[in-house]
Amino acid sequence: MLGKDLLGLRDLSGETIMEILTAAREMKKKIDDPGLRDNTLNKSSIIAMFYENSTRTKTSFMLAGAYLGGIVQDLGVATSSVNKGESLIDTGLNLDKMGVKFMIMRHQMTGASAVLARNVKACVINAGDGTNEHPTQALLDMYTIYDYLGGFKGLKVVILGDISHSRVARSNAFGLVKLGAEVTLAGPSTLISGSMKSLGVKVTSDIKGAIADADVVMGLRVQFERQKNMPFPNTREYSTLYGINSGLLQYAKKDALVMHPGPVNRGVEFSTDVVDGKNSVINIQVKNGVAVRMAILKLLYEANPDLN
Ligand code: CP
Repeated sequence: MLGKDLLGLRDLSGETIMEILTAAREMKKKIDDPGLRDNTLNKSSIIAMFYENSTRTKTSFMLAGAYLGGIVQDLGVATSSVNKGESLIDTGLNLDKMGVKFMIMRHQMTGASAVLARNVKACVINAGDGTNEHPTQALLDMYTIYDYLGGFKGLKVVILGDISHSRVARSNAFGLVKLGAEVTLAGPSTLISGSMKSLGVKVTSDIKGAIADADVVMGLRVQFERQKNMPFPNTREYSTLYGINSGLLQYAKKDALVMHPGPVNRGVEFSTDVVDGKNSVINIQVKNGVAVRMAILKLLYEANPDLN
């Protein structure tokens, strides 16, 4: 069962993860059929606080809230009083007083969501904090795997690319390992640390070996904006040595799922024929993101009756 906030998958039990995935299956029907949308959230107010750019996470949370009868606002950080020096905690306290029940925040600082959560009455949902966690992305990834492959036990999941900057890799590792998947993190040695093994995963720079017989091949965007020094000479060399093309994909299982959280740097981590190929579920992941975020809002609302 969820508590007041959703900050990461590190502290979520396998049972709670499955509860979210099960609820998301029901929620998905409401995306295609507006007649099924309802007032589950009883006009609760929801605010998106995105201190970093977003297309998928912010929009899908805002739609998820609207589909369940919430009142949804975007703080618009770029035009807010954050730019006059107002602190994160003061911003949160002001929003609390306006009756905001859900604060959905993305922030460049690791731990920012936890800081906000400790200081406000509202439920805080982490939409990505620094290089720490992106729990709702991992949950939508897990939902997609569950939907296609029926479970996690013994599945071989390979997560490839810029591991060291990836909150998506960390959240997926926490969640997938808890549910029994065999997770391998693979990438150039300059973008991966052996210490990641402490998450219960394998770590390698052997890309071909990593994807051999994989059930899921998940690529990650190279996060140029987080790198102080270029960890490889140029993107052409990166795509030659570490990019996945249809030739390399043949080493995975025939029906392996090709996944990516987006946005994709086409031709860098995945070739275009892989992004658009028959194994790709990248666009399905985006749709599932709305369903999973609806499920999270519903379960948090139910777990916090004092919010009503
Ligand atoms: N996957 C993801 O977090 O995408 P956005 O940055 O567009 O939200």
